[in-house]
Amino acid sequence: MEKVREFLDGIEDFGPDPQIKFGDPKMMIEMRKRDEVIKYFGYHFPSPEGIQGIADAVQKCYPEGETGPLLCVGSGKSLTEYLVSMTGTEVIATDPCVSHGSEILLTDETKSFMRVKILTAIKAIEEHPEANCFMTVWPTLKGEWTGDFVEKIVEKKNPLTRIIHIGEVEGGCTGDDKFHDLLSENFELESVIWGKRWVGIHDHVQIWGPKTPDSDEEE
Ligand SMILES: C[S@@+](CC[C@H](N)C(=O)[O-])C[C@H]1O[C@@H](n2cnc3c(N)ncnc32)[C@H](O)[C@@H]1O
Repeated sequence: MEKVREFLDGIEDFGPDPQIKFGDPKMMIEMRKRDEVIKYFGYHFPSPEGIQGIADAVQKCYPEGETGPLLCVGSGKSLTEYLVSMTGTEVIATDPCVSHGSEILLTDETKSFMRVKILTAIKAIEEHPEANCFMTVWPTLKGEWTGDFVEKIVEKKNPLTRIIHIGEVEGGCTGDDKFHDLLSENFELESVIWGKRWVGIHDHVQIWGPKTPDSDEEE
């Protein structure tokens, strides 16, 4: 984690200013800064706590004594993915590199923080049947692929599976309705890590793990 902290310290100036609260006169400037920063670093500005939480969750997805990958879909710039890989976790980053109506077009590997395999979420799952742990950072708002992604994982019926979603809750700026519905129907929110975030934005790390026997009764 030392390397992760060092890296994040090095890019701190590019990240959100925690002093700027909603309604602050400087908010508009901060939002413009976000628009620029996204082009280089992606939508989520990672924190050491988030990276550690993700690395710990990956370990829980494999039987004791075994390891396996964190399969990431829609990785884009893949900054969070890269930092998780610095912890020694095996990370596979993927993205079909399609435009989603913004300037963030991933046109070649050099523009991402780590090697990104050119795959849709569905193809990535099919190509990596060994993966029990999945991550999506800022899955496309109302993107049909996001619900299909969770559906494909549910079909695997693996009791160790976890899905890490970095984004907002249902009704926010990430995923479609099917994505949120399938997550809450088939998984239990195991942990939530709030790190740095831009003013007006509520993204956080959500780790969705296996449902416990009495979790349905609690609902
Ligand atoms: C809002 S961006 C988030 C990118 C990056 N994870 C980040 O946080 O900056 C959504 C990403 O979903 C990708 N995407 C679009 N269609 C996809 C699909 N069918 N399967 C997987 N990813 C897809 C886009 O290329 C884009 O990189």
